Amino acid sequence: MNSALGMSTSPPSTPSQATSSSKGRPITVLLVDDQATMNEAIQCLLATENDITYHYCSTADQALTMAIEVAPTVILQDLIMPGADGMALVKQFRTQAATQDVPIIMFSTNDDPQTKAEAFAVGVNDYLVKLPDRIELLARIRYHSQAYLNRQAHTAALVVQEQAQELEQILQELRRTQAQLIQTEKLSSLGQMLAGIAHEINNPVNFIFGNLTYIENYVSDLMRLVHAYQGCYPEPGDEIQTLLEDMDYEFLTQDLEKILASTRLGVERIIQIILSLRNFSRQDQAEMRLSNLHEGIDSTLLILGHRIKQGIEIIKQYGELPPIECYPAQLNQVFMNILNNAIDALEENSTLANPQDSAPTGCGKQIFIQTQRQDENRVEVRIRDTGVGIPADILDQLFTPFFTTKPVGKGTGLGLSICQQIIKNHQGSLQVVSQPGQGTEFIIQLLIEH
Ligand SMILES: Nc1ncnc2c1ncn2[C@@H]1O[C@H](COP(=O)(O)OP(=O)(O)O)[C@@H](O)[C@H]1O
Ligand SMILES: [Mg+2]
Repeated sequence: MNSALGMSTSPPSTPSQATSSSKGRPITVLLVDDQATMNEAIQCLLATENDITYHYCSTADQALTMAIEVAPTVILQDLIMPGADGMALVKQFRTQAATQDVPIIMFSTNDDPQTKAEAFAVGVNDYLVKLPDRIELLARIRYHSQAYLNRQAHTAALVVQEQAQELEQILQELRRTQAQLIQTEKLSSLGQMLAGIAHEINNPVNFIFGNLTYIENYVSDLMRLVHAYQGCYPEPGDEIQTLLEDMDYEFLTQDLEKILASTRLGVERIIQIILSLRNFSRQDQAEMRLSNLHEGIDSTLLILGHRIKQGIEIIKQYGELPPIECYPAQLNQVFMNILNNAIDALEENSTLANPQDSAPTGCGKQIFIQTQRQDENRVEVRIRDTGVGIPADILDQLFTPFFTTKPVGKGTGLGLSICQQIIKNHQGSLQVVSQPGQGTEFIIQLLIEH
């Protein structure tokens, strides 16, 4: 018995037939047969085929190892070998990842249909009675190999496609994370700065505010005193008379009151701004806390005040909302991004000045901010503008990081992707509805409790 393993023939250098496999991987045949004469016959038969590489294995024991090593495109296998069951060997090939799809042509002296049926049932692809005709065997080897190579190529293409999709997803995720990081970084430094400024201004403003009450009291005392003097001395001397006229005493007394009142108003406003700054930049981001959404929106509007002044009307329609569990500074960032976009859209629209945009409540640049409780555990914030609107074909790209329609330097394309990420962190939802030329509405839904 010939037990030489891996006895291979180098193809002779006769001109080969043009085959479809000559472009890709060559046809590789592995014969598993205990009879050396069979090896010689097949080897001889394939010797003139330039495109076919041939390997031989004489024992069933080592067939699997060898198949894994030589990676045949077709296996020719004997059904009956001493001490080995050909059917069992086929099953073995079929359970191994490396060989499970390799076509197997069973060789047998047995022409019984029952045996053939059994062979097909365990997984052979073809069944030939020994010794087959040369032309037929070659045709079958080529046919099975080619089919196998085609399947392999197809699977490989699918795998590549899958990997590309996976990579694309990872890339998207990375960009989102990067965007998130940039924004978080910006947010936290902005937050720190705002908190710092608020803290620094808070002290002097507080003593101005405290002193103001004394000033008001002292001024009123002094005025009473002057009044009393005027009562006692209705005819003052020349010197005092000139002084009164120079300082325009009547006007001074009236104006002083107004100045004091407006100073008080100014200081109160600064205190309000400081509160808003602190509110906006809450640094307690590590844990969720109960927060009033309306306060957040109002603080954000206050900070955006410089942009809102230019003829933009803010129409608040606040409903009854309970405090909700959230990261307030992050939600403020969401309101900030959406309101900033709304203002941009209104400014862009103002050049068009389309009369049909006018809503019944008025016309022109409007931002409606509507809040309402949705159900037991959900609230909704709607921010609608009467700006340019969004063309339908870009609606699904809005939340993609770096997608922007704004000129360089104005848009980063990060605002909405950040909003989406933040809302996702809150297990809420963010939707957009838009009519080009009419306006855009962003709808945020948030849980009250988590
Ligand atoms: N309210 C809106 N009206 C019209 N277009 C909007 C509105 N909000 C967002 N968009 C569109 O979505 C794009 C992405 O917005 P965003 O992610 O905030 O990035 P950026 O504002 O930096 O462009 C904007 O460039 C704009 O085209
Ligand atoms: Mg934006």
